[in-house]
Amino acid sequence: VRTLPYAAYSDPDVLARERELLFRPAWTYAGHLPEPGSYVTTRVAGVPVVAVRDRDGVLRAFVNVCRHRGAEVVSGGGRCTTLQCHYHAWTYGLDGALRAAPRAGDDLDRSELGLLPVAVDAWGPFVFVNVAEDPAPLAQTLGPLPDIVRSRGLDIGALRFHHRVEYGVDANWKVAIENYLECYHCAVAHPGFSQVVDVRPDEYELASHPTFASHYGHARDGEAQGQFHLVWPALKLNVMPAELPNLSIGPMWPASPSRTDGFLDYFFAPEATDAWIEAFLELDDQVGAEDAVLVASVQRGMASGVFEDGQLLLPSEELIAAFQAWVSAGVSPRG
Ligand code: FES
Ligand SMILES: [Fe+2]
Repeated sequence: VRTLPYAAYSDPDVLARERELLFRPAWTYAGHLPEPGSYVTTRVAGVPVVAVRDRDGVLRAFVNVCRHRGAEVVSGGGRCTTLQCHYHAWTYGLDGALRAAPRAGDDLDRSELGLLPVAVDAWGPFVFVNVAEDPAPLAQTLGPLPDIVRSRGLDIGALRFHHRVEYGVDANWKVAIENYLECYHCAVAHPGFSQVVDVRPDEYELASHPTFASHYGHARDGEAQGQFHLVWPALKLNVMPAELPNLSIGPMWPASPSRTDGFLDYFFAPEATDAWIEAFLELDDQVGAEDAVLVASVQRGMASGVFEDGQLLLPSEELIAAFQAWVSAGVSPRG
């Protein structure tokens, strides 16, 4: 099985198509909104979005573009009672309605100038948004994933949000995702991780599904089960095989043909101590730094133009084959 053509990893036209056909229609993880007044901002294929939990606890999401002159209304995340634009202070309620516009008289028709609603849905504490018109429910994208996560031993409702980490790599988004989808490189490139997780092929499990792909590994020294899922196109969900419940979740998205950004929200069991979390993150950071070097190297090799494509090794790289089939189907002229 050959890889996708290397040209598809650097061509801006290919990326434009992928943004439009793969990222824009997808349910995109935005964050967690623990209480009334919580809000979080994100972008879906270039569309700024804000998700809020309103006063009654209801989730809402809007295009985060001001109806005055187009500024992004709010940034970051946190708590709020209204959504006030940082440019000229047009102020929207958590229902998106325009409440106030400084200096505006009665002739301004506020009813026509509310924030544009978009779809929002949740899986436990995880809030997703979708900018497509009338999308199918989130449950359809997730499929059996929530059941799998639970049956593999993790109760997501018992976790507490700890922090968010933003990161980026110098590689096409598909290089970053493909690197995530195999542990063929683990023994060679992640010695620290491989000391903790049994990465031998007979002990390490791969499974692909129509909307996501999964791998499972257990701790070398115990029963703890790890699970690593990738929901198409680019949402990661990691559970490390550790003594305490833990999870990190977050999307990656293309910043340019050769640059990919992302974030991970870390959640831990309430009993996890600062010292435990620190040791956990040290290993996590080490793996992340090692992967950043790998994918940048792949990007340079592909971009050299010497070879047209590469060779996939099955079954170790079967999730990459599944990902590439999904990408190809999604961007093909008939979709
Ligand atoms: S652009 Fe938002 S208030 Fe002017
Ligand atoms: Fe890796």
